[in-house]
Amino acid sequence: MAPHELEAIAPLTAAAARQVEDGSGLGSDYLGWVHLPTGHDREELTRIKAAAARIRSDSQVLVVIGIGGSYLGARSAIDLLRSPLYNSLPKDTPDIYFVGCNLSGGYLSEIIRLCRDRDFSVNVISKSGTTTEPALAFRVFRKLLEEKYGREEAGRRIYCTTDKARGTLKAQADREGWESFVIPDDVGGRYSVLTAVGLLPIAVAGADVDRILAGAQQAERELSEPDPLKNPCCRYAALRNILYRKGKTTEVFVTYDPAFTMMNEWLKQLFGESEGKDGKGIFPASVTFSTDLHSMGQYIQDGVRNLFETVVDICKPREDFFVEEDPENLDGLNFLSGQEMSAICRRAMEGTVLAHTQGGVPNILLEVPDASEEEYGYLVYFFEKACGISGYLMGVNPFDQPGVEAYKKNMFALLGKPGYEDLRAGLLEKLG
Ligand code: PA5
Repeated sequence: MAPHELEAIAPLTAAAARQVEDGSGLGSDYLGWVHLPTGHDREELTRIKAAAARIRSDSQVLVVIGIGGSYLGARSAIDLLRSPLYNSLPKDTPDIYFVGCNLSGGYLSEIIRLCRDRDFSVNVISKSGTTTEPALAFRVFRKLLEEKYGREEAGRRIYCTTDKARGTLKAQADREGWESFVIPDDVGGRYSVLTAVGLLPIAVAGADVDRILAGAQQAERELSEPDPLKNPCCRYAALRNILYRKGKTTEVFVTYDPAFTMMNEWLKQLFGESEGKDGKGIFPASVTFSTDLHSMGQYIQDGVRNLFETVVDICKPREDFFVEEDPENLDGLNFLSGQEMSAICRRAMEGTVLAHTQGGVPNILLEVPDASEEEYGYLVYFFEKACGISGYLMGVNPFDQPGVEAYKKNMFALLGKPGYEDLRAGLLEKLG
């Protein structure tokens, strides 16, 4: 890409960045995340930490119920900051299972079996308080809690994260007196991981939420500069829009660390739900290399040339593994010995970046020093801000999700929910 291309889009990018800062763009009712790190409700944060400590002391399992933005943030943070094998590894914090994020009876039944004979608590998370998947899972786990502990103790083990006033969940919480945390009105689901939505489960897993917020605060301060030539966040938003305008309509988020795989899922929701509207938007995809070099590598190297890759390089791994020399060398692998796995992985990355760029797939490289809490907080803010700027550059409202409603209406109608009778008749006719 020629340097003048970035210069050409710089004024537009700066304007988009200013819209995010001053709230003059579309969807400005949902910009609460912009100053969330520095403006966090201290009293609520203290309660989040106290609740996490209580869950750690009285529960072997925490069941987190939520979907979309009420699920992906916590799940991805725990994978990254603790481990994708978190539940299987020895630790002094509870196992954490996520439910209400699908409609699989098999999955739900298995989680029930994993919990019922152990002490457990539930964190139900839903901003609207009416989403079917989590509402149904909550009904099941609330009953399980009440059967096991009785209504009063069950009530002490339910932690509710929802809107401050609206929704069925809020009404239930008020009636039953469950400990509740608020998702601010001006923070949409996919931008909510730095509220109680993400922070409570993350704290239960033993990660330091103060350090996460410190990283996000640093990002909030550093990434307010609107000049894309000086601000890496604006620069990233500008680069992906330049590529989009040249026909690179799919962004593949690439990681070389399985601990980042769920972060890629979070990124896919963030960008997909923010940009995919009005017939526009970069389609977000993801791969975990080197695993997926053996499945998706062929396509990326040689398939339709509408792709670009965004590689998030965690420079220092959480833990490494030293490859020793084998005196017999029967497998001929001694050329790899005497070095850490991370050094071998780095060569794989360098080789892949060169191959893919030569194959016509532009690569954007984002370097993250390590997978610490501070870097995680910084990264969350970086991507949220880049997404807002990028959406404005693309000419969409990055903070609504009207398309998500379409399937819900059809599903409700087909399931016979009261109020959807007319739609149901039409749909049944179409289905034959
Ligand atoms: O980002 C979003 O707004 C959505 O993905 C929501 O988080 C998701 O639909 C769940 O909604 P709720 O938290 O209201 O249950």
